[in-house]
Amino acid sequence: MNGKIRVLITRDFPGAGLEILDRNGFDLDPWEKDRPMTPRELVSRAKNCQAMVCTLTEKIDKAFITANPQLEMISQFAVGFDNIDVDFATKAKIPVGFTPDTMTEATADIAFGLMIATARKMFFLHKKILRGEWGFFRPRANLGMELRNKTLGIFGMGRIGMQMARLCKAAYDMKVIYHNRSRNMEAENLLNAQWVEFDTLAAQSDVVSVHSVLSPETRGIFNGQAFARMKSSAIFINTARGPIHNEADLLQALELKEVWGAGLDVTDTEPMDRGNPLLSMENVCILPHVGSATQEARDNMSVRAAENIVEFYRTGRVPFLVNPRVFD
Ligand code: DGY
Repeated sequence: MNGKIRVLITRDFPGAGLEILDRNGFDLDPWEKDRPMTPRELVSRAKNCQAMVCTLTEKIDKAFITANPQLEMISQFAVGFDNIDVDFATKAKIPVGFTPDTMTEATADIAFGLMIATARKMFFLHKKILRGEWGFFRPRANLGMELRNKTLGIFGMGRIGMQMARLCKAAYDMKVIYHNRSRNMEAENLLNAQWVEFDTLAAQSDVVSVHSVLSPETRGIFNGQAFARMKSSAIFINTARGPIHNEADLLQALELKEVWGAGLDVTDTEPMDRGNPLLSMENVCILPHVGSATQEARDNMSVRAAENIVEFYRTGRVPFLVNPRVFD
């Protein structure tokens, strides 16, 4: 192994992956502050590095890639990679690694948890206690809804969508419908899931759960029109990427009672402004993008991100590669 390959470590990633890089003779250049670099800091810090481990807080765009022609490999610590201009990286012949299937359970748990928390208004009730408004038992107050036998609509039936569907089926025997670019036969065979058009998903689901990538096709797909199609008793869950829903339209749909509630682990923008009206709504539960935030998932992500780099320099192949065309 060539000991001179310098790897920019853009954030304080878990040590498991950094140890692998270290053991394999890479020279690590860790960003020492507990905040993401500004675009200017990122450009200049990357200057001496041939590879980098980065995540969704770093914008790896045309300007960055052009300013760093020495860059040979980008290893993303995440399953999503919408912070990276993958087409431009491919043109620049830079392979982009990522870390799929390291946070499947962790993220599905957050989607499942948000669904229950929203159905039972948990965050809102917790905030009432903090304000000293526990009150007394009132037979017709604080009523939520039950989930048994309801219809779950999965938007994006990949690994995480599939795991959310499994949980909902096992816990509440929910009927599963889904919308995806292609059919998922495993979901159909194991969970009796049914592929439907997007409009049908919106119209028939009691819970819509978003698990797709953010792409030009999915950006803003959950807009005013989609929310207007949904049942007024429906819950909208998004644990994928904030810009897949239009947040102003979601707020309006909740205010107009076109949808019943929302559970979001991702918002547009992040961080969400603390004065955002969604934060104080009764049927809304919001988390600060923690889908993959378990010790296990983050360790696995760190290992996979490191292995992508090690394998690239050892064999010329990247085991988990976003842009296979780069090797054409
Ligand atoms: C991902 O992996 O894309 C998550 O959003 C962050 O872990």
